[in-house]
Amino acid sequence: MNNDTLTITDNRTGDSYDIELHDGCIRAPDLRRIKLHPDDFGVMSYDPAFMNTAACSSSITYIDGEKSILRYRGYPIEELAEKSSFLECAYLLIYGELPTAEQLDHWTTRIMRHTYLHENLVRIIESFRYDAHPMGILISSVAAMSTFHPKARNVDDPRVREKQVWRILGKLPTIAAFAYRVRIGRPNNYPDISRGYADNFLYMLDYMNERDYEVPEPLSRALDVLFLLHADHEQNCSTATMRAVGSSRVDPYSALAAAAAALFGPLHGGANEAVLRMLEQIGSVSAIPRYIERVKKGEFRLMGFGHRIYTSYDPRATIIKQVAEDVFAVTGTNPLIEIALELERIALNDEYFIAHKLYPNVDFYSGIILQAMRFPTDMFPVLFAIPRAAGWLAQWIEMLNDPAQKIARPRQIYTGQEKRTYVPIEERAAA
Ligand code: CMC
Repeated sequence: MNNDTLTITDNRTGDSYDIELHDGCIRAPDLRRIKLHPDDFGVMSYDPAFMNTAACSSSITYIDGEKSILRYRGYPIEELAEKSSFLECAYLLIYGELPTAEQLDHWTTRIMRHTYLHENLVRIIESFRYDAHPMGILISSVAAMSTFHPKARNVDDPRVREKQVWRILGKLPTIAAFAYRVRIGRPNNYPDISRGYADNFLYMLDYMNERDYEVPEPLSRALDVLFLLHADHEQNCSTATMRAVGSSRVDPYSALAAAAAALFGPLHGGANEAVLRMLEQIGSVSAIPRYIERVKKGEFRLMGFGHRIYTSYDPRATIIKQVAEDVFAVTGTNPLIEIALELERIALNDEYFIAHKLYPNVDFYSGIILQAMRFPTDMFPVLFAIPRAAGWLAQWIEMLNDPAQKIARPRQIYTGQEKRTYVPIEERAAA
């Protein structure tokens, strides 16, 4: 007798079924055995928003939301943030192991060589309205990239896939920097591939022909750490989108544009932008208690608080608080940090937030750092999308290689009308 089973008794019929458990999960298709009669479709599980449904198995990122644990391929995020770099972690996510010095050199060279954009893509970016949201530009540009690289449609060839990974990781910062420069009416700075990944990105955004231009090292390091912290976070909304869209075997640019669109929402990657707007709206430390009362009345949410997975402090938020110190040492402090710290203090001691297990998430402090670095607020989700592309691509490859995966196709419970007769337009009554 296999003990790793659940016995389910169908009280409609009195029949019992042994349902196998694998890794603590039942396989939802096994529920279909539970039927009223042989022609019955069988029992389904209903789980809107995937509150308790694993849609894949994955060996990329591990999270224990109660213990504040986040690991990429087994390595604790705290150790990676201290000792590693974004590109090294991107390699780790994609290939499963940390690179040797030689592998890292090859990987970095391949990615940096792909930082240049096709000039037609540059023209697409330049054709947006002056006030276009940079995330809209990024989503559209990534989708447009599928037309520049038609071979990418061959998603079953690992070498073709690898090349698109280099391209995407290389080109995203350039798209983001050009979107920024176009909007402020400055000519684009073409990539300097001798620089590091974050360093080159800041250079493309900032450089104005100064003779001795250097990106301050603490700022490129801080941005690199922010990139590293955002690189993957297992099955969140945008990653699930990447997997679902990619499961149709579409090219990775189209799938990644969809994932980036999912990230744009204020409950996901748009949250750091929303946090900044919220802190500005609160305006002063003295206004916080009244604001918290309104949150508790359900008028709006405290942005940057709460997480589907973390029911304790988001470990990324702890690291980000340290990064803030390094950035402020160069840029001067951001006055909003006072409001943020006090907001956090009050919220963490408030019965509502304690009872709902609401703690600051990664986005609570990242926006304050990015604002201190003089990024416009609407660039924030873009700065999330650039590194998250590494996670999306790692998860996309894992999905393609997983024999258990097929095209994503959820079931539904139909709640509409029974069959009815078509009514000609002249006979329809006005509503
Ligand atoms: N402020 C006030 N109440 C909240 C908040 C919040 N930020 N988040 C959740 N709640 C309450 C919610 O009202 C509900 O209360 P009740 O049970 O009394 O009705 C309860 O907590 C559970 O909320 P939920 O919406 O069922 O939880 P969820 O897992 O669906 O939502 C979340 C997770 C992140 C969307 C949500 O916490 C939220 O909207 N937070 C603010 C937006 C935010 O900071 N997002 C960034 C997430 S981290 C970056 C990323 O991964 O994208």
